[in-house]
Amino acid sequence: MQDLLHEIEQFCLRTGMSETRFGELALNDKPFVSQLKSGRDLRSSTALRLRQFMAEYEAGRAENAAVTRDYPAGSLAFPHRDLLGIAQLERHEILYLLDQAEPWVELNRQSAKHADLLSGLTIINAFFENSTRTLLSFEIAGKRLGADVVNMHAATSSVKKGETLIDTAITLNAMHADAIVIRHASSGATQLIASKVDCPVLNAGDGQHEHPTQALLDALALRHALRARGQMADDFTGLTVTICGDILHSRVARSNVLCLQAMGASVRLCAPPALMPVGIEQVGAQPFHDFDAALDGADVVMMLRLQTERMSGQFIPSAREYHHLYGLTQNRLKRAAPDALVMHPGPMNRGVEIDSDVADMLERSIITRQVEMGVAIRMACLDVLTRRTRGVAGWEGAA
Ligand code: CP
Repeated sequence: MQDLLHEIEQFCLRTGMSETRFGELALNDKPFVSQLKSGRDLRSSTALRLRQFMAEYEAGRAENAAVTRDYPAGSLAFPHRDLLGIAQLERHEILYLLDQAEPWVELNRQSAKHADLLSGLTIINAFFENSTRTLLSFEIAGKRLGADVVNMHAATSSVKKGETLIDTAITLNAMHADAIVIRHASSGATQLIASKVDCPVLNAGDGQHEHPTQALLDALALRHALRARGQMADDFTGLTVTICGDILHSRVARSNVLCLQAMGASVRLCAPPALMPVGIEQVGAQPFHDFDAALDGADVVMMLRLQTERMSGQFIPSAREYHHLYGLTQNRLKRAAPDALVMHPGPMNRGVEIDSDVADMLERSIITRQVEMGVAIRMACLDVLTRRTRGVAGWEGAA
């Protein structure tokens, strides 16, 4: 019986499944494992059933993994302490994070959504800029993994009393956080904080620079949408993605260009001249100022809002004119591929960059799927980046 308990504990550790969930899935008996630990009798037929369940479950996971690819062992699969940008990641590291998120997608769709992987760890979400999706999904992700999650809102913090970013970082570090998630209005702020603290730092959006978990969740949402259509592809080779909006100020655009290209997609970027960065061709994406031309035959259309909080001065004549030239309408969407998917990272400005009847198209819009995948991706990132701290086998020497 001790052997079986050990096997169950190891299984739960490997798979990220809580013991309650194990009992529920294996025997439809949630308290089974805790009762077993307290001396509950175990029939040999039940032990056989449990071992069969574990073997079949892991065989299923291996089959899913085989659909994707083999990864280097242990921490070599993701040899980074922090997640600061997509620019630092190799293609196989992006795919690794996406594949690591798949079990969490499944877990998040169950009624019981808890795993105890990060039990005892403290995660601080330090947000110096407004957020709904990113902050909440990091909080939910940490809590579903069993961590203690604390949110620091700059508006009510000592930042308002003149504390510098470095002093804030040193303060968070002194509290022995096991991971710090940062959103900041300045490009490079997360890099600066990472250089001052001892724990993994995750970039939740820094100025106009990068928003890596957004690009990862977008890739995961796209993968799921393609799979749901029976277009199970290893990556996005052959796919044309048009990103339209305020490219100049968008960290989402930058991270997505890097991520989508690493996954094999061709990326078109479309914006009015004033909202297109100079020299954008150098990133390998095709620039457009004419939205109709940028949409021609595109498989995916990703719309971005105007980042007015980062604009100094007038970049567009009016929201009405912007919508006329760059708003995604049902009519305009006809220029894209017949079943083109519509994406938007949110928050949306309906009637400006996207019409409501496009944003809410059940069969084409995957905007709510993007939000769903945000939790799973952030669970995967928190899991992977805290493996060293947790002493997970093979990750002891991680960066
Ligand atoms: N997409 C995104 O970053 O949304 P929030 O600003 O609401 O976090």
